[in-house]
This record gives sequence, C-alpha cells and structure tokens, in this order.
Amino acid sequence: MTERLPNIAVLGATGVVGREILNILEENDVKYNSIKFLASSRSAGSKIEFKNENYTVIETNDDVFDDIDICLASAGGETSKRYAPIAAKKNCVFIDNSSAFRMEKDVPLVIIGVNDEDLKSHKGIISNPNCSTSQLMLPLKVLNDKYKLKRLIVSTYQAVSGAGLKAINELTDNTKTNLVGMPYEPSAFKYEIAFNVIPQIDSFCENGYTKEEMKVTNETRKILHLSDDVKISCTAVRVPVYIGHSEAVSAEFENKISAHEARELLKSAWGVELRDEVSTYTYPTPKDAAGKNPVYVGRIRQSIAFDSDKGLDFFCVADNLRIGAALNTVRIAQKVIEMGLY
Ligand code: A2P
Repeated sequence: MTERLPNIAVLGATGVVGREILNILEENDVKYNSIKFLASSRSAGSKIEFKNENYTVIETNDDVFDDIDICLASAGGETSKRYAPIAAKKNCVFIDNSSAFRMEKDVPLVIIGVNDEDLKSHKGIISNPNCSTSQLMLPLKVLNDKYKLKRLIVSTYQAVSGAGLKAINELTDNTKTNLVGMPYEPSAFKYEIAFNVIPQIDSFCENGYTKEEMKVTNETRKILHLSDDVKISCTAVRVPVYIGHSEAVSAEFENKISAHEARELLKSAWGVELRDEVSTYTYPTPKDAAGKNPVYVGRIRQSIAFDSDKGLDFFCVADNLRIGAALNTVRIAQKVIEMGLY
C-alpha cells in the first residue's frame, strides 16, 4: 500500500476531454502531491488555470514520466501508443482514454462501479472504455447480474463532442451556413452533420460494422466478463447534438424479466438515475444529461420482440465527456489511489 499522495499528470490537458478531466479533478477534490499538465509542442508554454492557480503546459517527452505516479491521458491513440509503455516502465500508472490498449489481455478495461476489482491486475496501463460502452455498463451490470444477458442490440445516437473540438465547431459552422442557404463543405465528418444524421462513426471493418460498433461489442464482453455465447450487435450513428450520447437498447436475458422488476432494480443501481414515467412524458434527453454525472434511464418496457417475457427495451442517456470519458478516468485514478495500486 502506497502511503504518500501521488504525483499526477494530465496528458492532453488542452483538449476537450482533458479540460473536463481538470473540472472533475477539482469537483471530486482529488488529493495529490503535485500535478502537471502535458500536451504537444503546439500548446507547450501556454497557461492553464486550475484551482485558482496558473500552470504552464509542458511538452510531453519520455523524461516527464520520471516522477509521475499516475497519468490521466486523453491525447489520442497514437500519443498513447508512444508514451504509455514508457510511462509504465517508469512505474507511472497510465490511465488511457484511447482505444489503443483496451482489448489487450494485460490491460484492465474498467468502469468504476462495475468491475473495479479488475484494476488489481494492472501492469502499468489501465484503459477507459469507449464512450458508448461506458454509459451502457452501469445499467446493464445490475440487469446482467440478476437476469443473465443472452443477446444485446444497441443503437447509438452520438453527440459531436465525442469527435473533439473540430467536430463541435463544425456543427456550429455547418448549422449557421445552412440557415442562410449557403453550401457547406464538411471536413470532420463525411457528410454535413447539421440537420442530418450520419450512420458511420470511425472506419469500416471487414464484417460491415464500424470500429465504433465493434468496440461496443468487444468492450461490453470484456468489462462484464461475458462469454462469446452472448451475442452483441451495435449500430452507431452521429447526430447533431453537442453533448450527450443516447442509446436505444434491446436486451434478451436467460431469465424472465418484467419492466417493473427492471425499474425497481435500476432505481437503486449505483451511478444510474431513472427518468421513466410516460404519463408525465418523463424520459431522458441529452440536453438534460449534459454536465451531469449519472446515466439516465427511461422508456423501460418489456420487449415484444423476444419470446417468453425475457426481453427488455430501454433508452439511456449520459454526458459522453463525463461518464463516457473524463469522469470515469478520474474515478479510476481515485480508485487506484484508494486501493494503493500505484
Ligand atoms: P495540443 O493542444 O498541444 O494539440 P482534442 O481531442 O480535443 O483535439 O485534444 C487532443 C489533446 O491531445 C490536446 O490536448 C493535444 O495537445 C494533445 N495531443 C495531441 N497530440 C499530442 C502529442 N503528440 N503529444 C502530446 N499531446 C498531444
């Protein structure tokens, strides 16, 4: 058990998720001995305000990890591939937001509140799951624990902030341009995102699914320790929303389940908040979820697409920058500190 407080670094501190990590480190009052903010040469030397103090952004290189115990990283896959192994070698626990190491055997893929125990097997790198997988895990864990998942079909409606600052600006510019009837040439997306939806996130795999869709399949299986017999399919769609991913979920279980039972279970599930009363038009929307920590669940109903009362349909919404990225990253860091795993 490590006695002293850790030296912390945030890699990608100037990015969309990095900034959210700073907000949550402050909100959660994470205790540390020292803190550093790392980025590329592009923003090295610029200032970041954190807890009313000014810090200078440092250019990332191999040596910066010498005296860092825990690095919260959100600087893209290539940056993680470059620095995570170096950091790990220097005894720095590298908590990675990218997909670079998620499916590696020796790398725990963790949603706090779902599979915290997996952290214990880390060998220096811990991965934060994909945003769409992350928000689904909290409601699905309690349902799987009791009813045993057999089949899962997910359709996502994903906000542009999941694609970074450039994509956020593109939604604004594209919308303004469309409103004055001018043509717009998209660059962050393959098609115009304003007043549109795009059924492609990430590149296509040989099986016709996108990488994003296969992340939901493979990561869900790893986090919930499901066997290959559990069938999982996802369709991931980008929608013109700034913050907040939504997901329509159909799940089939081994055991009988009712909407009432599911509601009772989810009412007390950690990290989940029910918004489910159709008589008052109560259900979650991304606008309500933005800036908040829970995964909101509503539209719970017994699915009429499966036999023998074993299917459930629901809708879940969460802030993709929080539970889908920064919040879980900070929670992992807190758990690593609490469990003395650094
Ligand atoms: P920088 O500001 O120097 O470009 P976003 O996903 O919002 O685009 O943010 C990406 C984050 O990752 C930024 O903080 C960016 O820093 C950082 N980043 C990108 N490439 C590197 C790199 N090669 N080394 C370190 N940080 C990087």
